[in-house]
Amino acid sequence: MGFFKSSTQDIPLFNEIPKHIAVIMDGNGRWARKRFLPRVAGHKRGVETVRNMVKQCAVLGVDYLTLFAFSSENWRRPDDEVSFLMGLFMDALKREVTKLHDNNIRLILIGDRSRFSQPLIEQIEASEKLTALNTGLILTIAANYGGRWDILQATNAMQKATPHKIGTFEEADLSDYLAMNYAPEPDLFIRTGGEKRISNFLLWQLAYTEFYFTDTLWPDFNDEPFKLAIQSYQQRERRFGRTSEQLTT
Ligand code: IPE
Ligand code: IPE
Ligand code: MG
Repeated sequence: MGFFKSSTQDIPLFNEIPKHIAVIMDGNGRWARKRFLPRVAGHKRGVETVRNMVKQCAVLGVDYLTLFAFSSENWRRPDDEVSFLMGLFMDALKREVTKLHDNNIRLILIGDRSRFSQPLIEQIEASEKLTALNTGLILTIAANYGGRWDILQATNAMQKATPHKIGTFEEADLSDYLAMNYAPEPDLFIRTGGEKRISNFLLWQLAYTEFYFTDTLWPDFNDEPFKLAIQSYQQRERRFGRTSEQLTT
C-alpha cells in the first residue's frame, strides 16, 4: 500500500472528473418535516438519492464514491430513529446488492461494526464478499464511522504491527492503516442540507479536498444539483501549496 499520492506529500494529478467524491448526506429530517411527514420518511426517500447518485457516478467515470450514512455520534438520536436507520440499512443492502454486483460495483463498509446486530454484520460481510472482485465504481458506505475513531484505530494497528518503529512513524505508515487505505484521498467533498461542518467525517483524508456545501436537502439532491457540484469543482484551482504561477508553467 502507500502507492496513492498523499496531498501533503506529493502533488496528485488533477482530473476534470473527480476520482473520489465523499458526501455527507444531510437534511433528510428537514425534508420530511417540510412535508409534515415523520423524519424517517426523509431517510427512506434519501435511499432513492443514493441509488441515483451511484448511477450518476458510474456514468461519469468517478472511481470512488464515499457516503456518510451514520456517524459515531448518531447513536445519540432517539432509539426509534436509530432502529429505523439500522433496519433501512439492512433492507437497502439486501435489496440493492445484486444490482450493484450486476453493475460491476464494489461495496465496502467503513466504520466500527462491533455495535451492529449480528444479522446486519453478516449481511455487510456477504455484500462485501459478493462484490469484492468487481472492477467498476468503488462505493464506500461509512456507518458508525468517525474520523477520530479512524485515526485512533489506525494508530493502534500500526503500532501493533511495527512495534520496533515507535517514534519514527511517517504519514504513509499511518495512512496504510486508515479504514480507506484502498482509495486515494477525496478530490471533492459535498455536504447537502446547509450545515457547514465536517461532523467527524474523514478528518485525515480531507486535508486538501475541495469543499462544496449546498442548501439542497439530501432527498432533493438529484442530477441537476449534482451537476452544479461537479461544475464548481471544475472551476477550482488546486495548488497544493504552490503558487498559481507555478501551475501554469
Ligand atoms: C442525515 O439527515 C441522515 C443521517 C444523519 C442518518 P438528518 O437526519 O441529519 O436530517 P436533518 O439534518 O435532521 O434534516
Ligand atoms: C452527519 O449528519 C452524519 C451523516 C450524514 C451520517 P448529522 O446531521 O448527524 O450531523 P450534525 O450532528 O448535525 O453535525
Ligand atoms: Mg442532520
